[in-house]
Amino acid sequence: MTPDLVARIAPLAPCYVYEQSLIRESLSKLRRAFASCRFLYSVKANPFAAVLREAALAGFGTDAASAEEVRLSLEAGIEPDDIYYSAPGKTPQDIALSIGRCRIIADSLHEIELLEHEAGSLGKIEKIGLRLNPDFGVFSEEGLPSKFGINAEDLGSVQKLLERCPHLRVSGFHMHLQSQLLDEDALSQYYFRSFSFFDRIARSLDIEPEFLNFGSGIGLAYDQLQERDLDLEKLGAAFEKHQGKFERLAHAQSFIETGRFVACRAGTYFTPVVDVKASRGKTYVIVRNGVNGFLRPAIAHLIVANNAQARDLQEPFYTNRHAFQLKAYKADGTLLTEPSKRVDVVGNLCTALDVVAADVELACVKPGDLICISNAGSYAYSLSPLAFSSHEPPKQAYLLEDGELKC
Ligand SMILES: Cc1ncc(COP(=O)(O)O)c(C=O)c1O
Repeated sequence: MTPDLVARIAPLAPCYVYEQSLIRESLSKLRRAFASCRFLYSVKANPFAAVLREAALAGFGTDAASAEEVRLSLEAGIEPDDIYYSAPGKTPQDIALSIGRCRIIADSLHEIELLEHEAGSLGKIEKIGLRLNPDFGVFSEEGLPSKFGINAEDLGSVQKLLERCPHLRVSGFHMHLQSQLLDEDALSQYYFRSFSFFDRIARSLDIEPEFLNFGSGIGLAYDQLQERDLDLEKLGAAFEKHQGKFERLAHAQSFIETGRFVACRAGTYFTPVVDVKASRGKTYVIVRNGVNGFLRPAIAHLIVANNAQARDLQEPFYTNRHAFQLKAYKADGTLLTEPSKRVDVVGNLCTALDVVAADVELACVKPGDLICISNAGSYAYSLSPLAFSSHEPPKQAYLLEDGELKC
């Protein structure tokens, strides 16, 4: 970031800045690598309106996880047919609010009943999808218990139930097992098994699906020293090859979902230093809105402090020791480089858990300077406890390609 830009951001901090050029770059990388498969942007990763509009302009649909995310998608200009609403535990109100405004994916037999009731009361025939919990895992031969989707072995009950649902047509399937994979072979195998599974289910329900949704899985290297980005071209080619093998699925539109890949690197979090304290041999740099502005660095710290394995974490908390890089600037935009001793960067909440980074080398800072943190575009604002301690939440801004900063 140029000094001029940082100087313009400084008065807004604490603030997230999302860069249009980087969002566009990741959207087009995905599109280029997969010839016929389309992408759905996972709104939960970052529902900021400008980011959603960018996804819409690039021809992405959305993976909406609530009735509100359906509404935000429509507001961003996404067509109802391109919005896929999938989440467990939808209420009758969620369904009433969303029906006809998106493709609803039933997550259970109960949801099929709710959908039939709502479609019947509107006197219409509704196309729905089914979220399935397959009989395999990404790294195992067996299916696992899950709160998500309908178990493969319960498809007989689904079929019987659908016979009593004259207002519903099953038009496709959805699955999602794991995010943040960095292994092309594992993902390629997942795609192949999913195609075979979808083919088997389509035969047993005797339908030709209109869509197949493979969920997420595409990861990115948070720590570029120890991890490697996926070879998307290789992955895209493998996907297309698998797709060609299943005649019954030939006319189905395939989708892959991702929020992280699109938005993660495009976001940077800026927060001002409010105090610098020495205490019994340690130096604490205190910033505004640590955990209650950007939670994930604190989770990375907890992993390290407890010797846990990053891979043991449930999605979407995935993170690791070197996932977030810190830099320091003066408010006039000058990058600070004079090395300090090691410091703990902490937030200003009344809890010792409010740690942004422990025992790190950072340039010498004083109150009024700015700390900026990388990889803040996905599961960052949307996943942080912003209301904790009743501080004003961070702002969000979009940095257009021409340099204009829009709040
Ligand atoms: C069903 C589903 N789809 C898509 C995603 C998006 O994952 P990511 O942003 O890691 O690509 C998630 C994340 O938890 C998910 O649960």
